[in-house]
Amino acid sequence: MAFSVRSTGRIASAVASRPSTRRKMTVSAAAASQTKARGATNTTKPSSSSGSKTTKERYLNITGFPFPLGPLTERNTIRREIVKGTIWTFEQPQSLGFSNVTTNVRMVVVKLKSGGLWVHAPVAPTKECIRLLNELGAPVEYIVLPTFAYEHKIFVGPFSRRYPKARVYVAPKQWSWPINLPAQLFGIFPTKDGILKNDDTTTPWADEIEQKVLVSSVGIGPYIEVAFFHKKTKTLLVTDAVVSVPNQPPEGIVDDADLIDAAKSNFFVKVLSGDLAQEPVGSVPLQPKTMTPAVRDLGWRRMALQILYIVPGDLRDPSKGFSAIANRLIVGPILKTLVFSTEPELSKEWIEDICSSWNFTQIIPAHFTAPIPAGPNDLRRAFGFLYESGNTSNTSNKSAGAASFFDAAASMFRKSPTAAAQTYPEEDIKALNAAKEFLVKVGAVNGD
Ligand SMILES: [Fe+2]
Repeated sequence: MAFSVRSTGRIASAVASRPSTRRKMTVSAAAASQTKARGATNTTKPSSSSGSKTTKERYLNITGFPFPLGPLTERNTIRREIVKGTIWTFEQPQSLGFSNVTTNVRMVVVKLKSGGLWVHAPVAPTKECIRLLNELGAPVEYIVLPTFAYEHKIFVGPFSRRYPKARVYVAPKQWSWPINLPAQLFGIFPTKDGILKNDDTTTPWADEIEQKVLVSSVGIGPYIEVAFFHKKTKTLLVTDAVVSVPNQPPEGIVDDADLIDAAKSNFFVKVLSGDLAQEPVGSVPLQPKTMTPAVRDLGWRRMALQILYIVPGDLRDPSKGFSAIANRLIVGPILKTLVFSTEPELSKEWIEDICSSWNFTQIIPAHFTAPIPAGPNDLRRAFGFLYESGNTSNTSNKSAGAASFFDAAASMFRKSPTAAAQTYPEEDIKALNAAKEFLVKVGAVNGD
């Protein structure tokens, strides 16, 4: 999801897992139709505790001081089969701090030729999650942490303790903030030679899954992400680099109660909207108490904009801002502003290497919609702002020949009528730009 400053804290730990039905969730018809519309991908009905009504399991996650990640006390798991007998996703809710702003966080499981499982970015190992994973009837052979990002790191320790025979591999140069703690203090113990390397042909999965590493200097620490390509299914796995925001909240993940809360004219909406806060949005009353399609739409749009921008321009009526980001492959505004645009050449090398080496037809990111039907040109288009920046002459660690290749690729890309770089509404990106300006001033983030 979003790049955010990662904090240190106590490692996530499971406690007695008693299913709670305090908040029931229903699967939205619209979300189900999204699943249906995913084309050739073999996405099947989600497996969870109880069909359309999902129970939540107690799981204590007290981490992240001073920026906690919720839910703090309970969560559910949704399993989907993406490619029959080969790729599954496991989704759980993830919320911002103590707020009700929620989206999904996703683990991906790939069955290898060996018959074992390769687990990418583990989620919380609740009893439900472990049961759904064990139902696949195969041993977990490898556990992979593809990023430094906190929301994906915190469950690697607890998860690997549930599968002590699995070998653990992690992205290089792990770090944390405000205190830079080694991975071992997060309960993460990589296997010998368990640091992921670029184009490594010595990994046990190298003939089935390839990998490309980005280590980009952001300022207070590097942005690190490892992309993977599962050759048999032509699937690109990323963590946070790109997302596609669905029209409806992720199925079975976001509570109706939280969506209703988000649709209310609450303190945050009032502060951002001033006098306009007293004007209802469409048919939604200022303080809705029951769920309707309009309430769901308003609540989800407000949540999505807060997740992507933290402080969007118009939270009261998010329809315009939402239409600029929904249902397309995008680089999230936070990562675009604070990471990729501050290291454009290195980022472009990574993207171009991915696009020119791998003929993927679908992308599975760790948040929002998955799988996303998309190929290399779609990924280039999402990162169009890197190509528009143009200045490949400053490439520091590529040969002149490689730089020429990027120039040529950028030139061809610019000729495409659909190659316009993704831009975000000025009013929505304003707060992020201001935050970046401040962070650059204090030396936490590199300037352009
Ligand atoms: Fe993430």
